[in-house]
Amino acid sequence: MKEFGAAIIGCGSIFTKHAEAIATLKGVKLLAVVDTDANKAAEAAREYGCQAFTDYNEILNRQDIDVVHLCTPHYLHAEMAIDLLNAGKHVLTEKPIAMNLPSAWRMLEAAERNKGQLGVVFQNRYNEPSVRMKETIESGILGSLICMKGIVTWNRNDAYYTNSGWRGKWETEGGGVLINQTIHTLDLLQWFGGDIASVQGSVTTDVLSDVIEVEDTAHAVIVFRNNVRALFYGTNAYLVNSPVELELVFEQGTLLLRRNCLYLFKEGKETLLFEPFTTITNSKSYWGTGHNRLIEDFYEHVKSDRDFWINGTEGIKALQLVMDIYNSSSTR
Ligand SMILES: NC(=O)c1ccc[n+]([C@@H]2O[C@H](COP(=O)([O-])OP(=O)(O)OC[C@H]3O[C@@H](n4cnc5c(N)ncnc54)[C@H](O)[C@@H]3O)[C@@H](O)[C@H]2O)c1
Repeated sequence: MKEFGAAIIGCGSIFTKHAEAIATLKGVKLLAVVDTDANKAAEAAREYGCQAFTDYNEILNRQDIDVVHLCTPHYLHAEMAIDLLNAGKHVLTEKPIAMNLPSAWRMLEAAERNKGQLGVVFQNRYNEPSVRMKETIESGILGSLICMKGIVTWNRNDAYYTNSGWRGKWETEGGGVLINQTIHTLDLLQWFGGDIASVQGSVTTDVLSDVIEVEDTAHAVIVFRNNVRALFYGTNAYLVNSPVELELVFEQGTLLLRRNCLYLFKEGKETLLFEPFTTITNSKSYWGTGHNRLIEDFYEHVKSDRDFWINGTEGIKALQLVMDIYNSSSTR
């Protein structure tokens, strides 16, 4: 059986999730890591027993590298993905797919033209509560979905921004809490709700205005074509990282994700449907758990030449929603 060669570009905070996931896969070998910071690249290469590079152009012509993971700042996703797809690689990019819609459309075009896979990391879709929520909507077991609520109250302090050259700036991050942190929850809301009819929203910088030029807080009302209404609130200005809260109200019951446990409220009774195996102290440990499953699934699709389901077309939907909230906020 063919062994698939992998490379990861960007050896920063999310790098380990990808490297560890690859290490668990049969028939996949991490061959190269790339980072403009030579020390980071060398350290990662030492740890995972592969080659280190400081320029991704050096891996473009490597015939033994089939799949490249993009773990780089937002402003680099489009340029790198297009070059890699044009070089015949499959690309799995971290979210957001890109910093703006025209760049994302160019990525989709490159994937289609080169018949390459372009996967986007929305790992929260693999979380058990997310899967159960989606199944409940599709099965109709609780009747139709009526409305939803998504709440993200996290903390990103001054150092998170000042220690990074790219976060907190429109030019390199492309936005703040919306495009970076809450895009996962917005992705789930749009995945659950379907096609969107209208978005009303606003963004502000409540606490970090001396540190960042982008927003730290946002809210929105999203109305779907099926008349489902979603309320969304997200902020990086809380003092801790609280677990994400999601509520889905159906005709015959309510599903509630609170402190990473999923509850069903029906006919006056509360039932615990799911609780995580490990004690989870904050939301950060939770957002990581889907990476392994998503990465394994991506490779299963690449190996069997099937289209990965969170592809460019799917990955762009959350970015569209983010942009709709920015547009609504600026044109209110
Ligand atoms: N899915 C998730 O839950 C999740 C969580 C965290 C981060 N992310 C995403 O992962 C991506 C990276 O975020 P991060 O927090 O790891 O950032 P980071 O700043 O910690 O790491 C980025 C790395 O990219 C390197 N880099 C910069 N320019 C480069 C270039 N031209 N070539 C090669 N390497 C280059 C930097 O030196 C750095 O090591 C972002 O898209 C972010 O939104 C996703």
